[in-house]
Amino acid sequence: MPLLHPALIADPARHTEPLLPTECLSDEPGTIDLATLRDLTAALAGMPRIWRPVIHHRADRRWYTRLLLSATVEVWLIGWYPGQQTEVHDHGGALGAMAVAEGRVEEDRYDRNWTITRVREHVTGSAVGFSAAHVHRVANRGLEVATTIHAYSPPELPMRFAPTQNDADVRAAAVPTTAVAAYAGRDVASAGATR
Ligand SMILES: [Fe+2]
Repeated sequence: MPLLHPALIADPARHTEPLLPTECLSDEPGTIDLATLRDLTAALAGMPRIWRPVIHHRADRRWYTRLLLSATVEVWLIGWYPGQQTEVHDHGGALGAMAVAEGRVEEDRYDRNWTITRVREHVTGSAVGFSAAHVHRVANRGLEVATTIHAYSPPELPMRFAPTQNDADVRAAAVPTTAVAAYAGRDVASAGATR
């Protein structure tokens, strides 16, 4: 039986269409493909009536809640106060997707040796899929709050973290600023096309 946040339950009185693809509500274990995950997060991010009444942004900690848990996928809503970030992590082999509902976040991407390879900026309306081997850190380095929606399939695989976050930070600091800026600029330009 999938667990649904009340915000995701369609109002039968309004005859609203189901918000989620049937495969996302399955009781049978399985994996949702990357394009579907990305489209799911993008669609939810584009519906502020879903997430606006739910989202919180807290200065003392990153805020999050799960919107959906089924046998095939989990969906999370995350609020980012300026300065908040994740540790460097993977998703335990799950496929993933992230869409920006408001604001902007930066994503530092790492290789399997926990060495930073590039930085991408994701702005409101952009959505991106993550392969099973994806390693990253997401951060709000701006001055405004940000809201993102994430989906992972299969659900509830334990994340793995860089052996020492300090090592990852040291490697990140070693990347020339100009290289990071060049990557960020190129991806900002293409971000809108992903929606
Ligand atoms: Fe992640």
